[in-house]
Amino acid sequence: MADIHVNLAGISLKNPVMTASGTFGYGTEFADLVNLSDIGAIIVKGTTLHPRQGNDYPRMAETASGMLNCVGLQNKGVDYFCTHIYPQIKDLDTRVLVNVSGSAPEDYAECAARINALDAIPAIELNISCPNVKQGGMAFGVTVEGAQSVVKAVRKTYHKPIIVKLSPNVTNIADIARAVEAAGADAVSCINTLMGMAIDIERRRPVLSIATGGLSGPCIKPVALRCVWQVAQAVSIPVVGLGGISTATDAIEFLLTGATAIQIGTANFLDPAVSVKVAQGISHWLDQHGCRSVQEIIGQLES
Ligand SMILES: Cc1cc2nc3c(=O)[nH]c(=O)nc-3n(C[C@H](O)[C@H](O)[C@H](O)COP(=O)(O)O)c2cc1C
Repeated sequence: MADIHVNLAGISLKNPVMTASGTFGYGTEFADLVNLSDIGAIIVKGTTLHPRQGNDYPRMAETASGMLNCVGLQNKGVDYFCTHIYPQIKDLDTRVLVNVSGSAPEDYAECAARINALDAIPAIELNISCPNVKQGGMAFGVTVEGAQSVVKAVRKTYHKPIIVKLSPNVTNIADIARAVEAAGADAVSCINTLMGMAIDIERRRPVLSIATGGLSGPCIKPVALRCVWQVAQAVSIPVVGLGGISTATDAIEFLLTGATAIQIGTANFLDPAVSVKVAQGISHWLDQHGCRSVQEIIGQLES
């Protein structure tokens, strides 16, 4: 059988399939349905320095081939994570990464410092691309200066690999990728959700409580592939691809385009075991195509 293990910025993953932040809780919620040790890595919910209530309801809407959400980073804060969640996940037989968000570079840095102390967390993912919060979030990810300010601040307090999650809601994603690489990022993940909107014509109002939300699911895959393609050519650090992946074929498209690993988000809501199925599907495809390792296809798109 083909070797599907990958090395992501020094972190060894047993396969290239990760669950995307905000779509698979802390993983443990799904332990009865999925063998968590078959997942390459779990990226847990967005975590902030202080607890956050999230936005008012309604905060989800279905769209053609996808969904909109404006959950707004609801979480109990990093101290709760360290004392209550970490003990439950630290011995899982997979990699667990924490997704960090904030309203100011100092918040990100302080939150990351507390996670730095957790031995079983090998890396963090910085969310500088959340479109659903009023302060911070995407505001940092849409300018070179904003993106660099967060990465530089976190680089001072966090001493393990930093993956920076990029926003597609920009004019030139390659510029932002180059900027975060220069500021000390060890990898980038792309993409976060695209800013969108849904309308209730009877009420003549937006469906979502804050009017706009983040679009995810199969409908965003072409945009995500384009972003991965542009970013992979712009930087020399590894790229993690996500956006609309629900099958092994989707995942292989991202790997060929230059992603070292992939994440699955919205598809978890339809089938919590989708990550395991995609990992098995990649392995099967590699065997069928005579590849001995997943490395043989990463970035091997022909022009
Ligand atoms: C309900 C929901 C909550 C999310 N929460 C977060 C979050 O806390 N942090 C983050 O970086 N991304 C968050 N995301 C974005 C996803 O991790 C992912 O980038 C996006 O959904 C695109 O992937 P997909 O099309 O496979 O869902 C969230 C997405 C959804 C649908």
